[in-house]
Amino acid sequence: MMPVSMVGRAGELAELDRAWAAVASGQRPAPTVTVITGDAGVGKSLLVAAALEGFTPRPAVVLTGAARVHDPAPYDWLAAVLSGRDTSGLDLPPDALAWLAQQPTAPRERYAPGTLLRLAVRTVRLLVGAGPAVLVVEDLHALDPASLNLLGELAAAPELPALLVVASRPPADAVAPDLTVRALARLCGVRGAVRQHLAPLTAAEVAEVLTQVYDGTRPAEAVVAAVRRRTGGNPYVLTELLAAHAGSGPDGLVHEPLPEHLVPRPAAPPDAELTGREIEVLGCLVAGMSNKQAARALGISVRTVTVHVSNLLRKTGSASRTEAALWAVRHRLPVAAPHG
Ligand SMILES: Nc1ncnc2c1ncn2[C@@H]1O[C@H](COP(=O)(O)OP(=O)(O)OP(=O)(O)O)[C@@H](O)[C@H]1O
Ligand SMILES: [Mg+2]
Repeated sequence: MMPVSMVGRAGELAELDRAWAAVASGQRPAPTVTVITGDAGVGKSLLVAAALEGFTPRPAVVLTGAARVHDPAPYDWLAAVLSGRDTSGLDLPPDALAWLAQQPTAPRERYAPGTLLRLAVRTVRLLVGAGPAVLVVEDLHALDPASLNLLGELAAAPELPALLVVASRPPADAVAPDLTVRALARLCGVRGAVRQHLAPLTAAEVAEVLTQVYDGTRPAEAVVAAVRRRTGGNPYVLTELLAAHAGSGPDGLVHEPLPEHLVPRPAAPPDAELTGREIEVLGCLVAGMSNKQAARALGISVRTVTVHVSNLLRKTGSASRTEAALWAVRHRLPVAAPHG
């Protein structure tokens, strides 16, 4: 099977391009933050990779880090960025640098947490230099608290010529949902932050993938609809289904069993009486959106969002928007932020 190229996501790519253009032209004195959320396998990493490839002018610096899901350590994101990089020219205390890079020979912690945070910010500043830079954060939901704190600082750091591109699964998928909710809220709350919640592929997009796989022959609508339904439009699930059964023709995609680990599990119902609209607004809060961002995403006025939010706070017994988002996560509420 030939590899499939990215379908859809034109709007998301365009928005990332715009954010990069603003950073690259030096229009803004502060970093620009873009947060991409979405379910496992929905295509966050592919979108980030495609955007990076297309950025013009080319970024002078790209710093990429991802969480090590099984063994998270403090400042994992920075350690990943520093891994394999020549840091001998950086004006930083070598023992602190060794510690931040998690080198096995690093001395035991000698620095206070606040000092380490400042050193971590300075490390990134030195690496970014005159920029313009792209800071890529993969899998924020799996990052350690120190990294999350560092990202919050970087997002608000004055005079940092960088575009911060963050990808995260929803907080419910995180080891520490509370931390993810707070980190998303902090990043999305930065002035000018752009956030995108990736929706599953539409039927038309699934058809496009299938057409690529079958060498330009578009399968019958019934096949497309069945594949869309079986995979929920999730590109990862679709890719796995194709890898398992594409060889036996489009019929195989419809009738062969789905691999066990891909069978979707329904979420538990909520135990507070929320209206459909309130659940949508709650989804926006979980995704870290401001009232203004939620209003735009849902196509309603900011004032209406405010009313929904206050009802939500009352019904969920929450004192703040962050608490309401946590409530949704703890109750595994099937909240999905709207597209856009
Ligand atoms: N828009 C798309 N068109 C075609 N294929 C896609 C698309 N988006 C994702 N894929 C494919 O689906 C798979 C999963 O995508 P990706 O790794 O980007 O998901 P993700 O959201 O980063 O998942 P995770 O939460 O696990 O990190 C990859 O094989 C990718 O190539
Ligand atoms: Mg990914």
